[in-house]
Amino acid sequence: MKPNETGLSIRALAIIAHKFRTSLSIINGYSEAVLVQADKEKFSPFTAKALDEINVQGRHLAELVRKLGAFNKVMESSPKALEKKTLGLKELLKDCASQAVLQEKNDTGLETTDAGKTMVKRGTFIDIDCPANLSLNANEEMVRLGIEELLSNAIKFNNKMEKNIKVQVANHGDSISISVRDYGVGVRPQDVGRIFEPFFQVDDDFTGQISGLGLGLPMVQRIAQLHGGSASVVSDRGLGSIFTVKFAR
Ligand SMILES: Nc1ncnc2c1ncn2[C@@H]1O[C@H](COP(=O)(O)OP(=O)(O)O)[C@@H](O)[C@H]1O
Ligand SMILES: [Mg+2]
Repeated sequence: MKPNETGLSIRALAIIAHKFRTSLSIINGYSEAVLVQADKEKFSPFTAKALDEINVQGRHLAELVRKLGAFNKVMESSPKALEKKTLGLKELLKDCASQAVLQEKNDTGLETTDAGKTMVKRGTFIDIDCPANLSLNANEEMVRLGIEELLSNAIKFNNKMEKNIKVQVANHGDSISISVRDYGVGVRPQDVGRIFEPFFQVDDDFTGQISGLGLGLPMVQRIAQLHGGSASVVSDRGLGSIFTVKFAR
């Protein structure tokens, strides 16, 4: 087994994710079934609360395992093995925005989509600025994973709810860059160099809430690198962040 920079071999992570996924789907299936079928009126307040908590934490764990699976897949891949096709960026980005809102909805009670734009919370949208016919030759699953991760992060950390999250696409000829801007907590200068490291999490006090693994941004970086590109961030503490991924065309 080849150890990688996480200290655990990718193979070991894949086995762990698979074992967890199997047990979790059984646990979550039963907990959903009890919540849907049971006569809730008959539950004591304690039982009702316990069931809700089991359900919420079960879904949370399932999301962590999904992420671990995606991380493994991306880390194991190589540029040569990537199946690429022509992707219409505007449609793809709209789709990613809806997915990211759905993903974050479980944790934060967000609103769903609105015509044209994707509503994050009442009055706040994800604005997508992308030339109409711009396309990218890339692996669709990976591009979606990367963009959805950046958007999920932006939704999580965009605490200035009056400001829209902005997605901006630029065509540089031999490459395309996609930037996701939020108006949230921002990243401290001392952390900017480290947030792309696997399992790096910033202090709870600063960001307020962290429930992830710290695998999203390393995955985004690797996705960009697999496509001959890079990932970067420009951020101001308290003012927000702009995460940019670049893909070679
Ligand atoms: N848009 C953002 N604004 C501020 N901090 C962020 C943002 N995105 C990521 N971070 C910081 O980077 C850490 C790691 O993020 P990420 O790699 O996506 O982890 P996870 O896999 O848990 O989603 C987060 O816990 C947070 O501290
Ligand atoms: Mg994340």
